[in-house]
Amino acid sequence: MVKVAVVISFNPSYNFWFNLIDISQLHFLRHFSNKNIKRATAGFRIVANLSSGPVYRAKFQDGLMAMVKEVKTFPQGKAAFYKEVQLLGHLHHCHLVGLRGFSTGRERFLVFEYTERGSLKEHLTDPLKTPLTWKTRLLIVTGVAAALEYLYFFCNPPIYHVSINSSNVLLDENFNAKLSDVGLLGSRGNHIGKSHLLCSRECMDQECRNIIFQLGVLILELITGQPSEEDGTDLLVQWVQDSNFLRSMHKIVDPALGNTYDSIELRTLLIVARLCTKTDGNPKFSMQQILWYLQRKAD
Ligand SMILES: *[C@@H]1O[C@H](CO)[C@@H](O)[C@H](O)[C@H]1NC(C)=O
Ligand SMILES: *[C@@H]1O[C@H](CO)[C@@H](O)[C@H](O)[C@H]1NC(C)=O
Repeated sequence: MVKVAVVISFNPSYNFWFNLIDISQLHFLRHFSNKNIKRATAGFRIVANLSSGPVYRAKFQDGLMAMVKEVKTFPQGKAAFYKEVQLLGHLHHCHLVGLRGFSTGRERFLVFEYTERGSLKEHLTDPLKTPLTWKTRLLIVTGVAAALEYLYFFCNPPIYHVSINSSNVLLDENFNAKLSDVGLLGSRGNHIGKSHLLCSRECMDQECRNIIFQLGVLILELITGQPSEEDGTDLLVQWVQDSNFLRSMHKIVDPALGNTYDSIELRTLLIVARLCTKTDGNPKFSMQQILWYLQRKAD
């Protein structure tokens, strides 16, 4: 098979990435027909509502359980889609939802590993779900932090396009956190696969700051059990930015935690969340420092 490597120059910042690839380079992933996807998802339910849209439960004829997401927000042609699929397919981390396959045709789908327990958001809000223990919550935020470290510091190109949100953190059968909606097929099309070479210093700093902020909000969600909706988030962030916040800290703890949490850990996590969500002035610590801190905490 001849590999075509054409560089399209419709947008200078894209050149670096637009080596066309063909489907044979995706042999490490499964290629499903649209028909097969339809059959596998027929009558099935939504497993989670991610920021980018719903993912459906799927069961294929060979028994494979998976989650299927339709990709609507990707206007570019087939080759560009393959390129994205290839990049996503090469991400491997135990705290990322892994890509298993894809489907192109009239509709485009991504097929992901199945995560049994749905989204963190549901576990925080649905009284019928098993309440999460303090330890589990600590492991969840650490898992997400580990996934971020991987995406930022160990991937080439680094992946900036993530949205950390209790809707986008899925849980497997052992309550391991798996970050979903990662990467390249989202709404902010221009960030696709930018490398360090193309993303300026300021752009990287800005992305890092956003991510750190979102991580702070996630910590607040885990502590309070209140999922971040636009206005709810603001209130929690405002609360933690108040200089007296430690005085009322026991009042905001998720009642589902009972008294299983450790007050000292709670206090330090709140201080981390406060530093993460500070928007005035320069960031108080780097991405790596916060990841390192959380990882040590969970060990
Ligand atoms: C997803 O959103 C739909 C529509 O808002 C809702 O009916 C459904 O219960 C949600 N499902 C999950 C798993 O969150
Ligand atoms: C998290 O995702 C949900 C679902 O898409 C969205 O409604 C909510 O605004 C998001 N929250 C943040 C802070 O982005």
